[in-house]
Amino acid sequence: MPKIHSDVAGGVAVLRISNPPVNALGQAVREQLLDLITRAQDDAAVEAIIITGEGKVFIAGADISEFGKPPLPPALPEVLDAIENSAKPVVAAINGLALGGGLEVALAGHARVASASARLGLPEVKLGLIPGAGGTQRLPRLIAPAAAFALMLDGEPVEAARALELGFVDVVAPGDLLETARDKALALARAGAWRRTGDASATLTEQAREDFEERAREALRRQPDAPNVAALMEAVRGVFELPFAEGLALERSRFRTLVDDPRAQALRYSFFAERKAGQVPGIGRETPRREIARAAVIGAGTMGGGIAMCFANAGIPVTVVEVAEDALRRGIGRVAALYESSVGRGSLSREEADRRTALIDGAVGYDAVADADIVVEAAFEDMGVKQEIFASLDRIAKPGAILATNTSYLDVNAIAAATQRPQDVIGLHFFSPANVMRLLEIVRPEATAADVVATCGDLGRKLGKVAVTVGVCFGFVGNRMLARRTAATERLLLAGALPHEIDDAITGFGFRMGPLAMGDLAGLDIGWRTRKAQGTRAPVADTLCELGRFGQKSGRGFYRYPENARKGERDPEVEALIAEIAQREGVERRSFSTEEIVARLLYPMVNEGARILAEKIAARPGDIDVIWVNGYNWPAWRGGPMYWADAVGLGVIAGQLTAFADREGDETLRPAPLLAELAEAGLTFRQWAEGA
Ligand code: 3HC
Repeated sequence: MPKIHSDVAGGVAVLRISNPPVNALGQAVREQLLDLITRAQDDAAVEAIIITGEGKVFIAGADISEFGKPPLPPALPEVLDAIENSAKPVVAAINGLALGGGLEVALAGHARVASASARLGLPEVKLGLIPGAGGTQRLPRLIAPAAAFALMLDGEPVEAARALELGFVDVVAPGDLLETARDKALALARAGAWRRTGDASATLTEQAREDFEERAREALRRQPDAPNVAALMEAVRGVFELPFAEGLALERSRFRTLVDDPRAQALRYSFFAERKAGQVPGIGRETPRREIARAAVIGAGTMGGGIAMCFANAGIPVTVVEVAEDALRRGIGRVAALYESSVGRGSLSREEADRRTALIDGAVGYDAVADADIVVEAAFEDMGVKQEIFASLDRIAKPGAILATNTSYLDVNAIAAATQRPQDVIGLHFFSPANVMRLLEIVRPEATAADVVATCGDLGRKLGKVAVTVGVCFGFVGNRMLARRTAATERLLLAGALPHEIDDAITGFGFRMGPLAMGDLAGLDIGWRTRKAQGTRAPVADTLCELGRFGQKSGRGFYRYPENARKGERDPEVEALIAEIAQREGVERRSFSTEEIVARLLYPMVNEGARILAEKIAARPGDIDVIWVNGYNWPAWRGGPMYWADAVGLGVIAGQLTAFADREGDETLRPAPLLAELAEAGLTFRQWAEGA
């Protein structure tokens, strides 16, 4: 089956790749491309060669479905060698998206002509990899190595105009792409001179190396555990230290190691889980959408302000509504200050900051929501308060407006019941700070109309979020599982693990912060208030709050924070206090290994995840993983709690949980039916999801 159409006219061979849906570089494409390039060398009618793609995509990269299988010849680097060393110039006519190996094909050519709508990028880092077909060696030879590194580290494609500005596109075709490419190819052939990217060295200056090293240090500081970031850095450093061929070999060996590295495999899994999370049961392309041209946010607190920024950042005008003038002024002031500080740091231009600020206005009283297409309530977390607000919104909002609540725990059905239009009510659970955190839990009550769910999914993407649709239950997916970890933390403290031992075990696992340092940072009084409202208790955390130890803001919590300290210190007073409470509660104390702490804290979460799946609160294990990686800082290279559980073995986890339950007499620790069943059958969550 021909995957490439070859057509020779006027001295130019046009090789058009046609491998739907995305022109991936599968084995047949590689073989035919190599064959056509080789044959063009001896074809007297051919002076120059153009490679282009059929349809909207140039080439989306290596064929991901071949990963993990034995490699089939020819390897992509071999094909690119043939392109680069061709005795006739090769021009890439980039008709659309050029990603990964696709851009690497273009980089191996002797010139790149792009259509104005083309986008180009090396997204391998997002798949836990690095470019593996010369990208790390060729791109820094065409543009400033620091910029090349930044582009590969970010992984997002850039527009053709930006690629031209950076220097890895030679021409953006003003009119017909192939005409422009043909002119370019023939001009090179007739001049008898063209440059092989591998021979270029003008960008490899001492200053360029310093700039690159600075970027690399920064990247490593931000992502010290990411194997692909370290590999990318090494490979790019190779352009300064090694001849081209050796640089290619270095890149190839790092790429191969990453393909088999379990951490990189987890990142690859995350990439696909995120894409899958966008598919919501019962919602499709055919589901109608509502138009969102204007938004309103109820509440000008930290959360409300952050949500308003999300809308403004996406170009949607938004009104922030408060009940009192001074609260409104403070809230709007806080938002303005955040934009100012971005301008100060250089991450936002003055014009852009002004444009965004101008999209946010404030109003006192709910009447201001009357012309909003969506209202997001971010008021105090209390059912009575929320029901009162929704009853008002029901009176004032226009027909068809989406009424969303940003509750993090409460029953969205009960909130919807305060209105006469439950079909328009939905939960949009943003994470703090809302303008920064990527996760958005879309909480879908049964009565909510399909077009509301679909519109919110699209809106989430427009706001730059990873949106995961979940069902209604206390705490939804993320906080419901977090509650298990919090309970386990209390239990462990009483049983003898010290605060810093728990936090060290969890940061050692890969979280950026342990649960106790996190509690101190967020404020221990928040959970205390919630527990009091629910009539539950956490003996250690409650006692600390009763002593006025609310965490960092009061200088003392699980740790003590001397003047200006950012990191807490161990506090013997707290450690003695916990021992005292344990005695009072009749808990026997002992020491715990790091492994046991991790198991005690995380296995109950996995167990809760199994309940969530069985209840269909989450549609698939991958959705739970996406939530934990993007909203709760679960280390991305461990995939997420359900992926990690599969790797540990569900039998191991179920066995341990049974032992915990027996020892503690706590039935919530006993393996959930789904977990027990899978453990018994020797299956994973993933197999269950694929087979069920
Ligand atoms: N290989 C094989 N199949 C691919 C693919 C790839 N690289 N990229 C996408 N597909 C498939 C998808 O699985 C999907 O198949 P399905 O319809 O059977 O489920 C179909 O193409 C359409 O994909 P999407 O639903 O994702 O369509 P979108 O239009 O939303 O997005 C896209 C298209 C932007 C190309 C997106 O699919 C994407 O980002 N793909 C990954 C691209 C990538 O990461 N390339 C780099 C690969 S690594 C590499 O090249 C290594 C090299 O350095 C050696």
